[in-house]
Amino acid sequence: MALKGPPVLLLLAAALVLLGAPATADQYQKFLLQHVDANPTGRNDKYCTKQMHYVLNELRRLDPNPGKNTCKKINTFIHANINAIRAVCTKGGGTDYQTKSNQIMRQSLHKFNITTCICTSREGTPLKKCKYQTAADFRMIVIACNDGFPMHFEES
Ligand SMILES: *[C@@H]1O[C@H](CO)[C@@H](O)[C@H](O)[C@H]1NC(C)=O
Repeated sequence: MALKGPPVLLLLAAALVLLGAPATADQYQKFLLQHVDANPTGRNDKYCTKQMHYVLNELRRLDPNPGKNTCKKINTFIHANINAIRAVCTKGGGTDYQTKSNQIMRQSLHKFNITTCICTSREGTPLKKCKYQTAADFRMIVIACNDGFPMHFEES
């Protein structure tokens, strides 16, 4: 029995790698879609409404089980290229940051141009009727990384 231990663990580790890698790639893909827009067409309400409709429709298209087709309350776009954002996951571009809910994420060492889109429609409003308000900012960002890839943007 004792001899069975290590191979079982190895198999488990291999399974985790096989299952984990696509999950990470998937999450990274979603991060890019939801939070990265290097060259925005504007940073106003019209931009937010148009961009949020595009993103939410794309997310639904990628999701095998999309939920209700409604607004997302808040979402931020970072206007920088992906290498600058990925750097936040590394020592050169970011530092560990503990969130209010005690998660360890990464805070950027440099400021980014960002646009936060806030839904002004009632919760549950159908996506095609969602209106968004805009807050443009230049500040540090907080993201969660996995293996050097951004996975999540921490809205604050
Ligand atoms: C932020 O945006 C301003 C105005 O477009 C630009 O001049 C500046 O270079 C940007 N800064 C960064 C760090 O991207």
